[in-house]
Amino acid sequence: MEKNTPRFIASLKGKRKISAITAYDYPSAYYADRAGVDVILVGDSLGMVIKGEENTLGVTLQDVEYHTRAVAKGVSRALVVGDLPFMSYFSVEEALKSSATLIRAGASAVKLEGPRIEQIRALIREGIPVMGHVGLTPQQYLHIGFKTQGRRTSSALKLVEQAKAIEDAGAFSVVLESVPMEVAREITSILNIPTIGIGAGPFCDGQILVFHDLLGMYPGEKPSFVREYAKIGEEIVRGIKGYIEDVVSGNFPSEDESFKMKPGERDSFIREVKKWK
Ligand code: KIV
Repeated sequence: MEKNTPRFIASLKGKRKISAITAYDYPSAYYADRAGVDVILVGDSLGMVIKGEENTLGVTLQDVEYHTRAVAKGVSRALVVGDLPFMSYFSVEEALKSSATLIRAGASAVKLEGPRIEQIRALIREGIPVMGHVGLTPQQYLHIGFKTQGRRTSSALKLVEQAKAIEDAGAFSVVLESVPMEVAREITSILNIPTIGIGAGPFCDGQILVFHDLLGMYPGEKPSFVREYAKIGEEIVRGIKGYIEDVVSGNFPSEDESFKMKPGERDSFIREVKKWK
């Protein structure tokens, strides 16, 4: 099956909306890909949804590398994007080294937060496609928390400027996170590359949600912009409760779920084993 390239994703602008989701392991990537999603981001949101932390600051490059390796194994078609974590791209050299690690792990592009124009240019010069990210950038958590960005004209204009600079630096798409829909609409119409929204309203060229949020698997608070398409967390509890019940009552495993000795061996074994009793 032919893989989605960054160029293909960029070419979808104005033709149809782009679907994107995060994933962090082989089975979730396999099922997301099988469902036909265009882009899979190995997001540093894994800090919260995989490691149970409060924010993304504790995520290391090795974490994203490990999860990218697993995700890449499950994907046949979707574009796999590796998310550069906190402090892994503070200089051009660091950005190149970190991105090489994620590309070697199986990503076909990287994402980084904020208008890191020099880093974006250098990565593209070296042949690494880049997805930008503006608005609420969780790696700035200590400065801004998880607050919607661009609600006033001056801050909204700053987002327009940042998104445009990211496009001019050569990024193939840009995530708009937690920004007012009016702002996302204008940025989307100004840019030639696709905008991928999360909490950014309906006018973006595509949408991304965190796997565990959209499937009802995250035990923490659900952001207001999330639509839950399944209740997998509840299904997991239901399934495991059934298992516990069957184990405790002796109903699991059955004979059919057990291995048997080779034909003819049982009787001699029972005879011989008596010596041990
Ligand atoms: O890490 C992540 O999951 C992200 C998305 C929210 C875009 O950056």
